[in-house]
Amino acid sequence: MKHFINLKDIPAKDLRKIITDAKKRKSLRKKLSTLEVDKGAPLKGKLLIQMFEKSSLRTRLSFYLAIKQLGGGTLTLRSNELHLGQGGESIADTAKILSTYGDGFMLRTDSDKKVENFAKYLTIPVINGLSPSSHPTQVLSDVFTVEEIKKKPISKLNICWIGDSNNVLDSLIAASVKFSFKLSIGCPKKFEPGKEVRAWVKRNNKKIYIYNDAKKAVSGADVIFSDKVISLNDKVNKKKKIQAFKHFKIDEKLMSFTKKQGTIFLHCLPRGDEVSDNVFLGKKSHVWQQALNRVHVQKSILLYCFGKLR
Ligand code: CP
Ligand code: NVA
Repeated sequence: MKHFINLKDIPAKDLRKIITDAKKRKSLRKKLSTLEVDKGAPLKGKLLIQMFEKSSLRTRLSFYLAIKQLGGGTLTLRSNELHLGQGGESIADTAKILSTYGDGFMLRTDSDKKVENFAKYLTIPVINGLSPSSHPTQVLSDVFTVEEIKKKPISKLNICWIGDSNNVLDSLIAASVKFSFKLSIGCPKKFEPGKEVRAWVKRNNKKIYIYNDAKKAVSGADVIFSDKVISLNDKVNKKKKIQAFKHFKIDEKLMSFTKKQGTIFLHCLPRGDEVSDNVFLGKKSHVWQQALNRVHVQKSILLYCFGKLR
């Protein structure tokens, strides 16, 4: 069994294998309806327990469909209804019970330490469904979406991120190293990626390109990614932060500064004011395909974790 906590810690060849499997599985499902099970039901009889300490729409639904389509089932726990959530039970004991009753555990939490602690005590795989430092299932799926739309390996494309330095960007930075693609980041000086992630990129002999000017950042981009300026765990002065990003709004004008044909726009959702409706709902945007692809990629992530990837 394998955990899926952070793209940084997963070998590049395993990440590529997950994407390849997802591609095959997606094409084989073309005629199957939502809850029909993939041929061979590879996770038949397996239970994925999901726990959300924060809101979620896409991650919750996509994991539900992913395990169902592999022949297994899922149960979603609300952390505030558990003894753990009330402070009445340790992570170690909770993990022991989860490992006894279930086969896999998906956790969305505000604490990276909690994910690590669960990984320490669980004897079943843990999947990080978003933590303060990482959103690995989202970003691996986004790599899949980019390659599906552009019909090329992501290493041959210029990827750009306009927005906050948050969990999604940290995972995108990790992906840029693992998949060797060029990543340009456009954000205000005060909101540049943290020292730790930049040092990790350097240790891996790679580079990311940071601009405090959105127009420069998007120049030559094949793909523009964004996310909310204010994340779920953001405890900042919201008004001030939104003001700091006022020159980083993705509108048609900014899109035109890529000076490239066929630039696409992607966003993990939920969205805020960082993107105009025209772009978000326009022809260059592939956000709905991006959201649905999470089902396909998470199926292959589950198979990887369960040691069943072909
Ligand atoms: N993109 C994403 O993870 O969405 P949810 O927060 O709705 O799960
Ligand atoms: N950065 C966002 C991602 C939501 C899917 C957050 O953490 O709220």
